[in-house]
Amino acid sequence: MSNLDCNVVVITGAANGIGKELARRFASRGSKLALTDIDAKNLGRLESDLRAKGAEVYTEVFDVSDYPAVEKFSANVFKRFGSIDILFNNAGVISAGSIWETPINDWQWLIKVNVMGLVHGIKAFVPAMIKQDRECKVVNTASIAGLVTVENSPAYVGSKFAAVSLTEVLELQLQQAGAKVKAHVICPAVVQSDLNNCERHRPADLYNADDPGYKTEDFKKRNSVVQMSMAFGMPAETAVTKIIRGLENDIFYIQTHLEASPLIGLRNMGIMSGSRPKKIVR
Ligand SMILES: NC(=O)c1ccc[n+]([C@@H]2O[C@H](COP(=O)([O-])OP(=O)(O)OC[C@H]3O[C@@H](n4cnc5c(N)ncnc54)[C@H](O)[C@@H]3O)[C@@H](O)[C@H]2O)c1
Repeated sequence: MSNLDCNVVVITGAANGIGKELARRFASRGSKLALTDIDAKNLGRLESDLRAKGAEVYTEVFDVSDYPAVEKFSANVFKRFGSIDILFNNAGVISAGSIWETPINDWQWLIKVNVMGLVHGIKAFVPAMIKQDRECKVVNTASIAGLVTVENSPAYVGSKFAAVSLTEVLELQLQQAGAKVKAHVICPAVVQSDLNNCERHRPADLYNADDPGYKTEDFKKRNSVVQMSMAFGMPAETAVTKIIRGLENDIFYIQTHLEASPLIGLRNMGIMSGSRPKKIVR
């Protein structure tokens, strides 16, 4: 056990992938868990599994883009546990396509979940976390796609750059407020998870199967690149080991794939020299 204070841990997007592994790992460290997801079936399975192992678990099923639901969850979590130590704003979805053909619905869906989901978690939890007046953490999941520009998933890249800058502003404002809450942003490269299967959670009003954007060869190609890359990702167990190590070492930008760091340097050098972005991943 390290100096990472994790008596009560809250995780959004906890039913699958990285969120599920975070839940398992913190349960094995003796944390009490407040878990939420839009995926009722897998959240229920995880809850039973963790309870069978002796963990104290509270769950709610809702969409993180629904602010009243997030606010209600926060109130219920504080009522039940009194205080929290770590909030993981982790739920996320992905889409692919070229920027001028991507359906508007894809942009709306990704901004609602990947950006507003974080905003909702911060707004619903942080005021009470500040009032706790003791060290605690807000950990937002962005992506390496929030630090370097990759070309197949424009809405995802846009939402993840927003997630990184949102967390940077959060950290600055927490410092300015003299709060004992610290912010962190997780920036993984490819991790094996259910992310490539996220369409199953898309609200019906944000999907039109007949949108011409889905009919193009370009969409099919970019989508298959994104889908295929997931199969070769880092196991979620390894990624979460690195995330926990990053938190223990008080790292703000937590990277799971340090081998990608030179790409961040190249991007920054390109910004300073004013050169055009170039394809960085073959
Ligand atoms: N897997 C990767 O390669 C990778 C890389 C970088 C960043 N990320 C980020 O990691 C986070 C976790 O993703 P993952 O890879 O574990 O994928 P995942 O699909 O396995 O897990 C994401 C979870 O979020 C839930 N979710 C989706 N939409 C939701 C909504 N509207 N409201 C509530 N819950 C919702 C899903 O049901 C799922 O349980 C995401 O933010 C993702 O963008 C993943």
